[in-house]
Amino acid sequence: MDIRYDDRVAVVTGAGTGLGRSHALFLAARGAKVVVNDLGGAVDGRGGSAKAADMVVAEIEAAGGEAVANYDSVDRPDSAAAIIATAIDTYGTVDILINNAGILRDKTFAKVTMDDFEVVMRVHLMGSVYCTHAAWPIMAEKGYGRVVLTTSAAGLYGNFGQTNYAAAKLALVGFMNALKLEGQKNNILVNTIAPIAKTRMTESLMPEDFAKHLDPELVTPAVAWFVAEECQRTGDIVSAGAGYYALVKVEEAAGVALGADQPVTPEIIRDRYDDIANMTAATPFLHANELLDKVGKLLNR
Ligand code: NAI
Repeated sequence: MDIRYDDRVAVVTGAGTGLGRSHALFLAARGAKVVVNDLGGAVDGRGGSAKAADMVVAEIEAAGGEAVANYDSVDRPDSAAAIIATAIDTYGTVDILINNAGILRDKTFAKVTMDDFEVVMRVHLMGSVYCTHAAWPIMAEKGYGRVVLTTSAAGLYGNFGQTNYAAAKLALVGFMNALKLEGQKNNILVNTIAPIAKTRMTESLMPEDFAKHLDPELVTPAVAWFVAEECQRTGDIVSAGAGYYALVKVEEAAGVALGADQPVTPEIIRDRYDDIANMTAATPFLHANELLDKVGKLLNR
Protein backbone atom coordinates (compact mmCIF):
# COMPACT_ATOMS: atom_id res chain seq x y z
CA MET A 1 0.00 0.00 0.00
CA ASP A 2 1.20 3.49 -0.79
CA ILE A 3 2.50 5.57 2.09
CA ARG A 4 0.25 8.58 2.69
CA TYR A 5 0.25 11.52 5.09
CA ASP A 6 -3.46 12.41 5.05
CA ASP A 7 -4.47 14.38 8.16
CA ARG A 8 -0.81 14.79 9.11
CA VAL A 9 0.63 18.24 9.64
CA ALA A 10 4.24 18.63 8.55
CA VAL A 11 6.67 21.48 9.15
CA VAL A 12 9.61 21.62 6.75
CA THR A 13 12.24 24.24 7.56
CA GLY A 14 14.22 25.82 4.74
CA ALA A 15 11.59 24.55 2.31
CA GLY A 16 11.76 27.45 -0.14
CA THR A 17 14.36 25.78 -2.33
CA GLY A 18 16.59 22.73 -2.74
CA LEU A 19 16.00 19.67 -0.56
CA GLY A 20 13.39 21.26 1.71
CA ARG A 21 11.27 22.24 -1.28
CA SER A 22 11.43 18.69 -2.59
CA HIS A 23 10.40 17.26 0.82
CA ALA A 24 7.52 19.73 1.13
CA LEU A 25 6.17 19.09 -2.37
CA PHE A 26 6.30 15.33 -1.86
CA LEU A 27 4.55 15.30 1.52
CA ALA A 28 1.85 17.65 0.24
CA ALA A 29 1.35 15.49 -2.85
CA ARG A 30 0.77 12.52 -0.53
CA GLY A 31 -1.85 14.32 1.55
CA ALA A 32 0.03 16.20 4.30
CA LYS A 33 -0.79 19.76 5.28
CA VAL A 34 2.57 21.49 5.08
CA VAL A 35 4.11 24.53 6.72
CA VAL A 36 6.65 25.75 4.18
CA ASN A 37 9.17 27.66 6.27
CA ASP A 38 11.88 29.71 4.63
CA LEU A 39 13.64 32.88 5.53
CA GLY A 40 14.50 33.38 1.86
CA GLY A 41 18.11 34.45 2.38
CA ALA A 42 21.32 33.72 0.47
CA VAL A 43 23.41 30.55 0.89
CA ASP A 44 25.40 32.33 3.61
CA GLY A 45 22.16 33.14 5.46
CA ARG A 46 22.24 36.86 4.74
CA GLY A 47 19.16 38.71 3.53
CA GLY A 48 15.61 37.45 3.42
CA SER A 49 12.44 37.43 1.36
CA ALA A 50 8.98 35.89 1.40
CA LYS A 51 9.34 34.83 -2.22
CA ALA A 52 10.94 31.40 -1.78
CA ALA A 53 8.33 30.05 0.65
CA ASP A 54 5.46 31.70 -1.24
CA MET A 55 6.50 30.06 -4.51
CA VAL A 56 6.54 26.58 -2.98
CA VAL A 57 3.14 27.15 -1.36
CA ALA A 58 1.81 28.27 -4.76
CA GLU A 59 3.23 25.12 -6.37
CA ILE A 60 1.63 22.90 -3.75
CA GLU A 61 -1.72 24.64 -4.08
CA ALA A 62 -1.59 24.49 -7.88
CA ALA A 63 -1.19 20.72 -7.57
CA GLY A 64 -4.24 20.56 -5.29
CA GLY A 65 -2.34 20.29 -2.00
CA GLU A 66 -2.55 22.26 1.24
CA ALA A 67 0.27 24.48 2.50
CA VAL A 68 0.96 27.67 4.37
CA ALA A 69 4.09 29.82 4.23
CA ASN A 70 6.16 30.91 7.20
CA TYR A 71 9.17 33.24 6.91
CA ASP A 72 10.65 33.07 10.41
CA SER A 73 14.25 32.13 11.07
CA VAL A 74 14.97 28.83 12.81
CA ASP A 75 17.90 30.39 14.61
CA ARG A 76 16.19 31.96 17.65
CA PRO A 77 13.91 30.32 20.20
CA ASP A 78 11.08 32.85 19.67
CA SER A 79 11.12 32.76 15.87
CA ALA A 80 11.46 28.96 15.82
CA ALA A 81 8.44 28.78 18.13
CA ALA A 82 6.59 31.02 15.66
CA ILE A 83 7.21 28.43 12.92
CA ILE A 84 5.56 25.71 15.00
CA ALA A 85 2.82 28.19 16.01
CA THR A 86 1.99 28.61 12.31
CA ALA A 87 1.28 24.86 12.18
CA ILE A 88 -0.89 25.01 15.32
CA ASP A 89 -2.75 28.18 14.30
CA THR A 90 -3.41 26.99 10.75
CA TYR A 91 -3.86 23.25 11.09
CA GLY A 92 -4.25 22.65 14.83
CA THR A 93 -1.19 20.46 15.50
CA VAL A 94 2.19 19.22 14.29
CA ASP A 95 2.95 15.57 13.50
CA ILE A 96 6.08 15.80 11.37
CA LEU A 97 9.06 18.11 11.68
CA ILE A 98 11.80 18.07 9.07
CA ASN A 99 14.72 20.18 10.24
CA ASN A 100 16.36 21.05 6.95
CA ALA A 101 17.21 24.78 6.95
CA GLY A 102 20.89 25.46 6.57
CA ILE A 103 23.61 27.86 5.48
CA LEU A 104 27.33 27.83 4.69
CA ARG A 105 30.14 30.12 5.81
CA ASP A 106 33.08 28.09 4.48
CA LYS A 107 36.61 29.14 5.45
CA THR A 108 39.65 27.24 6.67
CA PHE A 109 39.89 27.14 10.46
CA ALA A 110 42.84 29.56 10.33
CA LYS A 111 40.65 32.13 8.59
CA VAL A 112 37.12 31.55 9.89
CA THR A 113 35.83 34.24 12.22
CA MET A 114 34.30 33.10 15.47
CA ASP A 115 31.17 34.96 14.43
CA ASP A 116 30.88 32.83 11.27
CA PHE A 117 31.52 29.72 13.33
CA GLU A 118 28.75 30.61 15.77
CA VAL A 119 26.25 31.63 13.08
CA VAL A 120 26.63 28.25 11.36
CA MET A 121 26.30 26.40 14.67
CA ARG A 122 23.25 28.46 15.52
CA VAL A 123 21.36 27.84 12.28
CA HIS A 124 22.07 24.11 11.92
CA LEU A 125 22.34 22.91 15.50
CA MET A 126 20.36 25.41 17.55
CA GLY A 127 17.83 25.95 14.74
CA SER A 128 17.00 22.24 14.82
CA VAL A 129 17.00 22.25 18.63
CA TYR A 130 14.69 25.30 18.85
CA CYS A 131 12.18 23.97 16.32
CA THR A 132 12.18 20.50 17.86
CA HIS A 133 11.84 21.95 21.37
CA ALA A 134 8.79 23.94 20.29
CA ALA A 135 7.16 20.90 18.63
CA TRP A 136 8.12 18.36 21.32
CA PRO A 137 5.42 19.02 23.95
CA ILE A 138 2.70 18.85 21.30
CA MET A 139 4.03 15.56 19.95
CA ALA A 140 4.52 14.16 23.47
CA GLU A 141 0.99 15.04 24.50
CA LYS A 142 -0.60 13.44 21.48
CA GLY A 143 1.73 10.42 21.56
CA TYR A 144 2.88 10.82 17.98
CA GLY A 145 5.79 12.52 16.28
CA ARG A 146 8.24 12.05 13.46
CA VAL A 147 11.34 14.25 13.53
CA VAL A 148 14.08 14.33 10.91
CA LEU A 149 17.42 16.06 11.31
CA THR A 150 19.74 16.86 8.42
CA THR A 151 23.41 16.02 8.86
CA SER A 152 26.13 15.90 6.21
CA ALA A 153 29.06 13.80 5.03
CA ALA A 154 31.15 16.83 5.99
CA GLY A 155 30.21 16.24 9.64
CA LEU A 156 30.26 12.45 9.54
CA TYR A 157 33.58 12.18 7.72
CA GLY A 158 35.15 15.66 7.49
CA ASN A 159 35.57 18.23 4.74
CA PHE A 160 38.32 20.79 4.21
CA GLY A 161 37.21 24.35 4.96
CA GLN A 162 34.04 23.37 6.84
CA THR A 163 34.99 23.08 10.52
CA ASN A 164 31.95 25.14 11.56
CA TYR A 165 29.51 23.25 9.35
CA ALA A 166 31.01 19.84 10.20
CA ALA A 167 30.85 20.54 13.93
CA ALA A 168 27.23 21.64 13.70
CA LYS A 169 26.23 18.71 11.51
CA LEU A 170 27.75 16.05 13.75
CA ALA A 171 26.34 17.76 16.85
CA LEU A 172 22.92 16.96 15.40
CA VAL A 173 23.78 13.26 15.56
CA GLY A 174 24.56 13.56 19.28
CA PHE A 175 21.30 15.45 19.72
CA MET A 176 19.42 12.62 17.99
CA ASN A 177 21.17 9.88 19.94
CA ALA A 178 19.86 11.21 23.25
CA LEU A 179 16.54 12.52 21.94
CA LYS A 180 15.55 9.17 20.40
CA LEU A 181 15.60 7.64 23.91
CA GLU A 182 13.39 10.39 25.32
CA GLY A 183 10.92 10.22 22.44
CA GLN A 184 10.31 6.49 22.39
CA LYS A 185 7.72 6.30 25.18
CA ASN A 186 5.55 8.83 23.34
CA ASN A 187 6.01 7.34 19.87
CA ILE A 188 8.19 10.24 18.78
CA LEU A 189 10.81 8.85 16.43
CA VAL A 190 13.90 10.81 15.46
CA ASN A 191 16.10 10.00 12.48
CA THR A 192 18.76 11.76 10.47
CA ILE A 193 19.34 12.16 6.75
CA ALA A 194 22.78 12.75 5.25
CA PRO A 195 21.87 14.06 1.78
CA ILE A 196 23.91 14.40 -1.37
CA ALA A 197 22.09 16.66 -3.83
CA LYS A 198 22.64 19.34 -6.41
CA THR A 199 21.20 22.53 -4.94
CA ARG A 200 22.28 26.15 -4.94
CA MET A 201 24.33 25.26 -1.83
CA THR A 202 26.42 22.63 -3.59
CA GLU A 203 26.26 23.30 -7.34
CA SER A 204 29.56 25.20 -7.40
CA LEU A 205 31.28 22.48 -5.35
CA MET A 206 30.53 19.49 -7.56
CA PRO A 207 31.62 18.57 -11.10
CA GLU A 208 28.69 18.92 -13.54
CA ASP A 209 28.82 15.33 -14.84
CA PHE A 210 28.36 14.09 -11.25
CA ALA A 211 25.94 16.82 -10.18
CA LYS A 212 23.51 15.97 -12.96
CA HIS A 213 22.64 12.73 -11.13
CA LEU A 214 22.02 14.49 -7.83
CA ASP A 215 18.37 15.47 -8.02
CA PRO A 216 17.07 16.44 -4.54
CA GLU A 217 14.00 14.32 -5.34
CA LEU A 218 16.21 11.26 -4.93
CA VAL A 219 16.88 12.20 -1.29
CA THR A 220 13.25 12.85 -0.40
CA PRO A 221 12.03 9.19 -0.42
CA ALA A 222 14.34 8.34 2.50
CA VAL A 223 13.08 11.36 4.45
CA ALA A 224 9.49 10.51 3.52
CA TRP A 225 9.99 6.96 4.83
CA PHE A 226 11.36 8.24 8.15
CA VAL A 227 8.29 10.45 8.67
CA ALA A 228 5.76 7.77 7.71
CA GLU A 229 3.49 6.40 10.44
CA GLU A 230 4.49 2.89 9.39
CA CYS A 231 8.21 3.56 9.94
CA GLN A 232 9.29 2.39 13.39
CA ARG A 233 12.98 3.18 13.06
CA THR A 234 14.50 5.67 15.44
CA GLY A 235 18.08 6.88 15.84
CA ASP A 236 19.06 5.97 12.29
CA ILE A 237 21.28 7.96 9.97
CA VAL A 238 20.84 7.32 6.26
CA SER A 239 23.09 8.64 3.50
CA ALA A 240 21.06 9.38 0.37
CA GLY A 241 21.87 10.77 -3.05
CA ALA A 242 21.79 9.84 -6.75
CA GLY A 243 19.67 6.79 -5.97
CA TYR A 244 22.14 5.53 -3.32
CA TYR A 245 20.80 4.84 0.19
CA ALA A 246 22.91 3.50 3.06
CA LEU A 247 22.64 3.27 6.83
CA VAL A 248 25.47 5.00 8.69
CA LYS A 249 26.55 3.81 12.15
CA VAL A 250 28.96 4.88 14.85
CA GLU A 251 30.68 1.71 16.00
CA GLU A 252 33.24 0.81 18.63
CA ALA A 253 36.00 -1.74 18.14
CA ALA A 254 36.00 -4.93 20.20
CA GLY A 255 38.95 -3.30 21.92
CA VAL A 256 41.45 -4.75 24.35
CA ALA A 257 40.78 -5.27 28.07
CA LEU A 258 44.04 -4.73 29.91
CA GLY A 259 42.35 -4.90 33.33
CA ALA A 260 41.81 -2.15 35.89
CA ASP A 261 44.08 -3.62 38.56
CA GLN A 262 47.47 -3.02 37.00
CA PRO A 263 49.29 0.09 35.77
CA VAL A 264 48.80 0.91 32.10
CA THR A 265 51.52 2.94 30.42
CA PRO A 266 51.53 4.86 27.14
CA GLU A 267 54.06 2.30 25.91
CA ILE A 268 51.49 -0.48 26.38
CA ILE A 269 48.94 1.58 24.45
CA ARG A 270 51.55 2.10 21.71
CA ASP A 271 52.31 -1.60 21.51
CA ARG A 272 48.64 -2.64 21.52
CA TYR A 273 47.36 0.19 19.32
CA ASP A 274 46.76 -2.05 16.30
CA ASP A 275 44.46 -4.23 18.45
CA ILE A 276 42.74 -1.19 19.99
CA ALA A 277 42.09 0.13 16.47
CA ASN A 278 41.06 -3.20 14.94
CA MET A 279 37.51 -2.65 13.68
CA THR A 280 36.83 -6.16 12.36
CA ALA A 281 34.56 -7.07 15.32
CA ALA A 282 33.24 -3.53 15.91
CA THR A 283 29.69 -3.09 17.21
CA PRO A 284 27.26 -0.19 17.52
CA PHE A 285 25.51 0.61 20.82
CA LEU A 286 21.85 1.54 21.18
CA HIS A 287 22.71 3.86 24.08
CA ALA A 288 25.69 4.76 26.28
CA ASN A 289 24.83 2.22 29.00
CA GLU A 290 25.47 -0.61 26.55
CA LEU A 291 29.10 0.48 26.46
CA LEU A 292 29.24 0.53 30.27
CA ASP A 293 27.78 -3.00 30.31
CA LYS A 294 30.45 -4.16 27.86
CA VAL A 295 33.27 -2.68 29.94
CA GLY A 296 31.73 -4.09 33.13
CA LYS A 297 31.56 -7.59 31.64
CA LEU A 298 35.18 -7.39 30.48
CA LEU A 299 36.20 -6.48 34.06
CA ASN A 300 34.47 -9.53 35.50
CA ARG A 301 35.88 -11.96 32.99
P1 NAI B 1 19.64 25.32 -0.05
O1 NAI B 1 20.50 26.50 0.17
O2 NAI B 1 19.10 25.07 -1.41
O3 NAI B 1 18.41 25.32 0.95
C1 NAI B 1 18.52 25.71 2.30
C2 NAI B 1 17.30 26.53 2.63
O4 NAI B 1 17.33 26.87 4.03
C3 NAI B 1 17.24 27.85 1.85
O5 NAI B 1 15.99 27.96 1.21
C4 NAI B 1 17.43 28.90 2.93
O6 NAI B 1 16.75 30.12 2.67
C5 NAI B 1 16.88 28.20 4.15
N1 NAI B 1 17.38 28.79 5.39
C6 NAI B 1 18.67 29.12 5.67
N2 NAI B 1 18.75 29.64 6.90
C7 NAI B 1 17.49 29.65 7.40
C8 NAI B 1 16.94 30.06 8.65
N3 NAI B 1 17.72 30.59 9.61
N4 NAI B 1 15.62 29.90 8.86
C9 NAI B 1 14.83 29.37 7.89
N5 NAI B 1 15.30 28.97 6.68
C10 NAI B 1 16.62 29.10 6.45
O7 NAI B 1 20.49 24.06 0.43
P2 NAI B 1 20.17 22.49 0.40
O8 NAI B 1 21.28 21.84 -0.28
O9 NAI B 1 18.79 22.23 -0.03
O10 NAI B 1 20.32 22.16 1.95
C11 NAI B 1 19.29 21.68 2.79
C12 NAI B 1 19.92 21.00 4.00
O11 NAI B 1 20.66 19.86 3.57
C13 NAI B 1 20.91 21.89 4.74
O12 NAI B 1 20.79 21.65 6.12
C14 NAI B 1 22.24 21.41 4.23
O13 NAI B 1 23.28 21.69 5.13
C15 NAI B 1 21.96 19.94 4.10
N6 NAI B 1 22.89 19.23 3.22
C16 NAI B 1 22.85 19.40 1.88
C17 NAI B 1 23.70 18.67 1.08
C18 NAI B 1 23.65 18.74 -0.39
O14 NAI B 1 24.36 17.96 -1.05
N7 NAI B 1 22.84 19.62 -0.99
C19 NAI B 1 24.72 17.79 1.64
C20 NAI B 1 24.64 17.63 3.06
C21 NAI B 1 23.76 18.35 3.80
